[in-house]
Amino acid sequence: MHDQAERLRQRVNEEKAPRTSKTISIVSGKGGVGKSTTVLNFALELQKKKKRVLIFDLDIGMGNIDILLGQQSKHHILNFFEEFLPIHDMIEVGPNGLSYIAGGTAFDRLLELDENKLEYFFSQYELLTKSYDYIFFDLGAGMSKTSLAFILASDEIFLVLTPEPTSIADGYSAMKQIVKENPSLPIIAVMNRSPSIREGDRMLAKFASVANQFLQKDIVQLGSLPYDKIVPKSVSSQTPYVLLKENAAVSKAMRELVDRYLHAETGVKRNGSFIQKFKKFLLVR
Ligand SMILES: Nc1ncnc2c1ncn2[C@@H]1O[C@H](COP(=O)(O)OP(=O)(O)OP(=O)(O)O)[C@@H](O)[C@H]1O
Ligand SMILES: [Mg+2]
Repeated sequence: MHDQAERLRQRVNEEKAPRTSKTISIVSGKGGVGKSTTVLNFALELQKKKKRVLIFDLDIGMGNIDILLGQQSKHHILNFFEEFLPIHDMIEVGPNGLSYIAGGTAFDRLLELDENKLEYFFSQYELLTKSYDYIFFDLGAGMSKTSLAFILASDEIFLVLTPEPTSIADGYSAMKQIVKENPSLPIIAVMNRSPSIREGDRMLAKFASVANQFLQKDIVQLGSLPYDKIVPKSVSSQTPYVLLKENAAVSKAMRELVDRYLHAETGVKRNGSFIQKFKKFLLVR
């Protein structure tokens, strides 16, 4: 009886203050800069802090979040879009209770999603927004029309860069395209695989100043993750690096990024719902 009353009280409280997810797209210009490894380890650190996190592997047909976790998934996002499956059936559970939806591997079935599929996606997505604090979209490299739909519907963008000139140049182009479509979408930049945190932060500051000067865009410099041998090892052993070696330089740097992110996030207003933005995107195309 007491338990029942307690549960009811909890339910009522939930109803009064329904939580809405924050949706974050992970973007880069060039491929292979570390989007998937970064989002996975970032998400695991957020989980540790009792946040409820879902990763959507939206690198449709080339996804690898499940591979990075060493898990086999029953369904992947290709089934979802091709068979219109319920979203709840797609969710897999990884380490520390991290939820994810696998992207699947099928080079012959790469999709540009049509409007029907996108409509289906956001109607199903709506069912998830009260269950998670953060929903990450791990996107493929570059900027297809489909990835732009997901990007513009997000609350924030994580732009992953590495110090190579090609990554910086391509990252800048991706950012420029996003700013052109929506100048007020927050862009949060991370310098991955940097020779040192100091050097990475210096390059990040330079990148931010170019964005400011040429695009009149203030980006958030979240910080840098050093090059660390443990990362390729963690990929080979299919164990995320924050779990494989908690005290590795990159794991420590990741914890700092997450702390900084949560600290900076306090007080930032979420601007409009995902669904509203998604609908707007469909209307203007
Ligand atoms: N901080 C790091 N230190 C050392 N190696 C790293 C680091 N981050 C990523 N890597 C290496 O880079 C490779 C690519 O990383 P990842 O798959 O996360 O990139 P991606 O941007 O998701 O690629 P894609 O564009 O193909 O989706 C990994 O296999 C890993 O070995
Ligand atoms: Mg990836």
